[in-house]
Amino acid sequence: MNEGLQLLKERRSIRAYTGQPVAREVLEDIVDFGRLAATAMNEQPWEFVVVTDKAMLRKLPELTGHAQFIATAAACILVICKPTVHFLEDGSAASEHILLAAHAHGLGACWVAGEKEGYADAIRQFVGAPEGYRLICLIPVGYPAEAPGVEKRSLGEVLHWETYAHRQL
Ligand SMILES: Cc1cc2nc3c(=O)[nH]c(=O)nc-3n(C[C@H](O)[C@H](O)[C@H](O)COP(=O)(O)O)c2cc1C
Repeated sequence: MNEGLQLLKERRSIRAYTGQPVAREVLEDIVDFGRLAATAMNEQPWEFVVVTDKAMLRKLPELTGHAQFIATAAACILVICKPTVHFLEDGSAASEHILLAAHAHGLGACWVAGEKEGYADAIRQFVGAPEGYRLICLIPVGYPAEAPGVEKRSLGEVLHWETYAHRQL
């Protein structure tokens, strides 16, 4: 298989980081991939706030009340959207691009919710994003200090040909 595609298949959430800093150009490139995601009617409602300041990185999990590993990441990318009709789909597409790009750069990352959480507005305010804008997720990134581990449902279990009833690979 094409090496790039194989890399994409291997992406998993990483929640432990070495503490090694990540170069600014690498973070910029990761956000650049987010910016190129598919978006309804090409609205591109997203903004990306990259937090690298250590005190701010420590404050983020205080606000969420979970995902303490954000404090140990080299950076945390906040995906924030203008409240368009399709902001959640658009923001999610951009977020997945960011996860894949981080992995392709040899970094670990994890999607941390997010839009439906009670703390979403506090995070928006914390980084000074405009009122009404929606937090899609926080994505801590850093050089990985753990091996990924979750099981995935098999292709045979989730793939249906022509109708739902027909599952055979
Ligand atoms: C919408 C969404 C919200 C998530 N929120 C969290 C979260 O708050 N904390 C966390 O540790 N992981 C979170 N995750 C990561 C999932 O736990 C993870 O993607 C899932 O277990 C599958 O593992 P994988 O990413 O390694 O494939 C979230 C993922 C998604 C898509």
